[in-house]
Amino acid sequence: MKDPLYELLLWRLVKAPMDGSALEPVHSQAILSAELAIRQYAWRSEILDDAYLGSAPTMLSNGERLLLHWLARDYPLQCGVIVDAGCFLGGSTLAFATGLALRKNIRNTDKIHSYDIFLAPNDNYSLGLIGARRPGESVLDIFVDHLRGYERFLVVHSGDILLAPPPAASIDILFIDIAKTNKINSYLLRNFFSRLVPGGLVIQQDFNDHSCPWVNASMGYLANYFDALADDGSSRVYIYRGGLTSEVLEAAAVLTLQEQYKLMQDSAVSMTVFPAYFTRISAAWVLFALEGLDGALVYLDRLDNEHPQPWQSTEKYSDLVRRSMRYLQDISGLNNFQQSYFDDVSV
Ligand SMILES: C[S@@+](CC[C@H](N)C(=O)[O-])C[C@H]1O[C@@H](n2cnc3c(N)ncnc32)[C@H](O)[C@@H]1O
Repeated sequence: MKDPLYELLLWRLVKAPMDGSALEPVHSQAILSAELAIRQYAWRSEILDDAYLGSAPTMLSNGERLLLHWLARDYPLQCGVIVDAGCFLGGSTLAFATGLALRKNIRNTDKIHSYDIFLAPNDNYSLGLIGARRPGESVLDIFVDHLRGYERFLVVHSGDILLAPPPAASIDILFIDIAKTNKINSYLLRNFFSRLVPGGLVIQQDFNDHSCPWVNASMGYLANYFDALADDGSSRVYIYRGGLTSEVLEAAAVLTLQEQYKLMQDSAVSMTVFPAYFTRISAAWVLFALEGLDGALVYLDRLDNEHPQPWQSTEKYSDLVRRSMRYLQDISGLNNFQQSYFDDVSV
C-alpha cells in the first residue's frame, strides 16, 4: 500500500499550478519519492558512517554534512547543477562531492558550483579553523587541497559573490551559507533564485540562527513558492514549487525593515518550535536596526517570557544576542563589522 503522505505530495506536485514548466511525470515521481525521504530525514538513517564525508575543516554540523552528501548522492538532478554558495575551506563542497561520487548513473555534466571569496576573515572562529593565516590572506590553496581527487565534479567561482554570475544552466540544489548580509541575500534572490528549476531545493544554512533575519524574512515572503521539508543543524531545506517571477523576486529583495519584521512574526506562527524560535529571535536584529539597542533589548525580554528558548543551555541563547548587540552598540557598529570582515587589519 502506498504511503498516504506520498499520495498527498504526488497530488500537490502534479496538480499544483506552476509556471507552465511542469515537470516530466518521470521526474515528478522521482522528486516526490526524494521529497518524502527528506521529510523523513533519510540521511540520518541511511548514512551511518561519517567517514563517507571526507575530512575538511567545516562550520557545519555532521547532520548538515550528511544531508548535503545524501542530496548529492540521491536527489534527482534535472539540470545537473548543485550550488555551494559559501564553501569556506571546502567542508560543504566535500560533503556534496563525496555524495556525487556515489551517485548512480552520474553524468559528466553533473557539477558542484562552489562560490567563495576564499579570504581569511577578521573573525577568530574562522581563523581558528584556518590555522596560520592572517585576515585578508587567500585560503584557496586549503580548499584545493581538501578537494583533491574530486576536481572532475567542481566548478570553482573564486571572488566576491556580488560580482559572480550564476551557473549557465538551471539550478537543482542551492545551498546558501553566504547570505551574511542583506545585500548578498538580495543578490542571491535576484540572480540565483531566478534560476531554480521547479522541484529543486534551497537549503538556507542561516535560517535556524539569530544573525541573518533577511533570510527568514525573504523565505516568509516567498512562502507561496516553497515548502519547508526539514531542519537539521542551522539549515532549513525547502522545495521549490515553481511560479517565481522576476517581479516577485525583486519585491523579496527590497523588503523594508518593517516588512521584514512583520513577515517574521507572521510566518513564525505556523512553524514548529525550533524554526519559530529562531525566526522570532532573528527579528530582534531588525528592531536593533529600526529602534536601536533599547528597543531590541525590550523585545528580547518579551521573547524570553512569551516564547522561551525550546532547549536547555547554560547561557541563554538570547543573552548571546544581547551581548553581541551591546558590543556593537548600534546599527553603525553592525555595518562596520560587516564592511571590515575581509580587511587586512594589520596594514
Ligand atoms: C559560514 S562560512 C561557510 C562555511 C562552509 N559552508 C563550511 O562548510 O564550512 C561563510 C563563507 O561565506 C564567504 N563569504 C562571505 N561573504 C562573501 C562574499 N561577499 N563573497 C564571497 N564569499 C563570501 C566566506 O568567505 C565564508 O567562507
